[in-house]
Amino acid sequence: MRINLEKAAKLLKSGSIIAVPTETVYGLAAALNQTEAIQEIFSLKKRPPQNPLIIHVSEKEDIYTYIKEKPTQFDELAEMFWPGPLTLILPIEPSLIPPMARAHLPTAGFRIPKHPLAKELLKQTGPLVMPSANLSGKPSATTASHVEEDFGLDFPVLDGGKCENGLESTILAYLDGKWVILRMGAIAAEEFKNILGYLPQVKRKENGEKPICPGQLFRHYAPKAKLFLGNQAKQSEAGFILGFKERTYSKEKRVIILGSLFNAKEVAENLYDALRQLDLEQAQTAWIDTDFPQEGLWMTISERLQRASEG
Ligand code: TXA
Ligand code: MG
Repeated sequence: MRINLEKAAKLLKSGSIIAVPTETVYGLAAALNQTEAIQEIFSLKKRPPQNPLIIHVSEKEDIYTYIKEKPTQFDELAEMFWPGPLTLILPIEPSLIPPMARAHLPTAGFRIPKHPLAKELLKQTGPLVMPSANLSGKPSATTASHVEEDFGLDFPVLDGGKCENGLESTILAYLDGKWVILRMGAIAAEEFKNILGYLPQVKRKENGEKPICPGQLFRHYAPKAKLFLGNQAKQSEAGFILGFKERTYSKEKRVIILGSLFNAKEVAENLYDALRQLDLEQAQTAWIDTDFPQEGLWMTISERLQRASEG
């Protein structure tokens, strides 16, 4: 059910959950002070309780209430990338944030979204927790229809059109004196270099170590179809192909175009829609052309495809 801004604010304030557009992906929103609604997010998404939620606010100052300290270069990062697709993990004052929302961690993720509807809504409601508006494990939702595919036509959605980035926010944390990337996202690693003075490293889970970004533990972004990445030999086995408009592929297959090889932004914007299209067309197997540049936003696209093809 598509709702307007006024209704959206009213529902959130009265403890309901709704879907909200952001510039990255749609979020499943609950007010930070509505603990039952937060609980409902976990059950509706079938999200493991160990996976914390990101807190969305409308202004940087809103964050100060909750955090213990501002790490070095916090202000520079905020100035450059907020509002926008950046999430910062910060040490918090635990009594001020429901433990369930942060999965009992001593930190929380914060983001100021840029989408005009999300911004206006946050002004009216105050802080909102928003995981991506998809069933746990599925590709994120980048249109209102994607949300309805997962949660049904009666689920309240504030329709803000197609998400501009199409990939989730980049998550940074300050660890041992450096900012590191916990989740690659809509902002490429290279874009932080000027501000930080170094290229932030992608923090990978080391064996036996407790993950710093719990979300990285779980299956993600996956359609039902079995995905073959790049391996040419597998191309003939697959019924579907995901590829680029500059290339020609077998006429016997159903080809879904992700966009141009020269435009990572376009491919990012279409990625989850293409993966969801496989489910809509009940694809069993799909081959994905992964012969694209290994730099910038392509690195996030590559990581998402990798995750989507696992398990
Ligand atoms: O772009 C986005 O970030 C979207 C939109 C709706 O804002 N939200 C989103 O939320 O992608 P979600 O729940 O799908 O992913 C949140 C990620 C998870 O991997 C989670 O583990 C991580 O953020 N996260 C949240 N709080 C954390 C914390 N305190 N420490 C480490 N990781 C955290
Ligand atoms: Mg998600």
